[in-house]
Amino acid sequence: MSFRGAEAVIEITDDRVVKTREPKKYRHPELDSKIRTERTKTEARIMKKAKKHGVNVPEILDQEDSVIKMQRIEGLQLKEVLEEDVEKMKSLGENVALLHDTDIVHGDLTTSNAVSNDYIYIIDFGLAFHSDRVEDKAVDIHLLKQVLNSSHPEVAEEAWEKFVEGYRKYSEADKVLEQLKEVERRGRYK
Ligand SMILES: Nc1ncnc2c1ncn2[C@@H]1O[C@H](COP(=O)(O)OP(=O)(O)O)[C@@H](O)[C@H]1O
Ligand SMILES: [Mg+2]
Repeated sequence: MSFRGAEAVIEITDDRVVKTREPKKYRHPELDSKIRTERTKTEARIMKKAKKHGVNVPEILDQEDSVIKMQRIEGLQLKEVLEEDVEKMKSLGENVALLHDTDIVHGDLTTSNAVSNDYIYIIDFGLAFHSDRVEDKAVDIHLLKQVLNSSHPEVAEEAWEKFVEGYRKYSEADKVLEQLKEVERRGRYK
């Protein structure tokens, strides 16, 4: 199976996933290749760091230029199972707790970027970055909350509660959740 995502082409086989950032024609070729390699390196580095700290993420098998080879996680996207299995949000919360404790901000926490089997795995670190700022972490989970409300309205409230239950494993969770209120307030008056 293979498909083209927002930023990359994904090829999925039985046990591995190959993610390739394709050239962007509007960029100068040399600069383009530099940017793609740099982003791919960052993505692989951040995933390795997350894994080392116990976050459920696919294992990086290889990274070369703008190509990452990683372990394939068997299972469905969280968005496909969420309605029947809201409990899974707690597992997602625990994983984001560990991620934020490591000062990694995912940057695109959606129910498409989590794979569900017995556990939840977080994938797609294409927009991830290092940060110890409470604000960045609050914005990270704010996106997830918005996705729940817009894509899973029937279970959004319960799903968010489960997420927070798991997220509270993070020692700074209270601060981030407090900052989230501020982010939401800002959002309303924008
Ligand atoms: N390691 C993986 N294991 C299983 N499925 C994956 C894996 N990586 C990506 N996928 C699947 O491919 C989709 C797109 O990959 P992703 O990394 O999110 O790229 P993008 O969103 O930039 O296109 C994911 O939503 C997921 O369904
Ligand atoms: Mg994605």
